[in-house]
Amino acid sequence: MYFVDLRHYRCDNPVTILSPDERERAGWYHSTNASLQYIHARCLLREVLSLYLDHNPSDIIFEYSTKGKPHIRGESLDGVQFNISHSGDAVAIVVSRGRKVGIDVEKIRDDIPDLELAKRFFSYAEAAAISHVHGPKRAEFFLKIWTRKEALLKATGEGIGGLDNSIDLINKCSISHNGILWQVHDFAVPSEYTSAFVVEGGECFIKKREVSFLGGLKVFYSVGRDFINDLSHDSSKHTRILHSPQ
Ligand SMILES: CC(C)(COP(=O)(O)OP(=O)(O)OC[C@H]1O[C@@H](n2cnc3c(N)ncnc32)[C@H](O)[C@@H]1OP(=O)(O)O)[C@@H](O)C(=O)NCCC(=O)NCCS
Repeated sequence: MYFVDLRHYRCDNPVTILSPDERERAGWYHSTNASLQYIHARCLLREVLSLYLDHNPSDIIFEYSTKGKPHIRGESLDGVQFNISHSGDAVAIVVSRGRKVGIDVEKIRDDIPDLELAKRFFSYAEAAAISHVHGPKRAEFFLKIWTRKEALLKATGEGIGGLDNSIDLINKCSISHNGILWQVHDFAVPSEYTSAFVVEGGECFIKKREVSFLGGLKVFYSVGRDFINDLSHDSSKHTRILHSPQ
């Protein structure tokens, strides 16, 4: 798992790393800032994935499901899988081996929908729990549950269209959805954000560590013993490719 603040990350040469379709998409954004966020998030994703693959960042080819979930061309279901989420300057990435994964990150803000909406899309227990939280903490709690749901629906690939109020993630760390078991985890990120990730299958062992990089870039990094390559002994690889702007 990776959490990166894009204000502390710059890719040296995006033009040579991104594919033509990514470069075209970067031009669709209304603001330069949003375009740059997309560009650097994509470069970062490619650099992270190249740690797990025998490819240079620029050689990775993404393909997309009908609902937009990206995967790496040539990787089987036993191979490297990933998911990415953005919120403002934050990017969260989860990488696995042989398990479907989904991740969501949200910057905590107070413009959340009202409780009536929560009742439509959240389970009874979730909506009730949200209604018992008052003041600014309510938005944070709402978003915490929201990120779990979105991470699940990104892991399955359904996207937001799969949202329904039968999914209850309030106190659960595992859930059966569409006949498949999923593990739901909150991801410890800086306090202005909330994040969750979901992994297909039974329980997995997760170690968490925080790694500081040259120039102050921080990545929160977790390892599931049986599904993520343990790169902890090779931190030089990270420092080589992940660097801060000068
Ligand atoms: C997936 C989805 C929930 C993401 O919502 P979001 O909060 O705006 O965005 P996030 O930052 O968390 O995630 C965006 C990333 O999710 C990934 N993603 C897109 N669709 C996805 C899907 N169906 N499942 C999993 N991941 C998906 C992409 O990598 C995207 O990153 P990118 O923009 O750099 O390519 C939302 O886009 C969605 O519901 N998409 C499905 C739309 C659909 O059903 N389309 C059918 C064809 S019209």
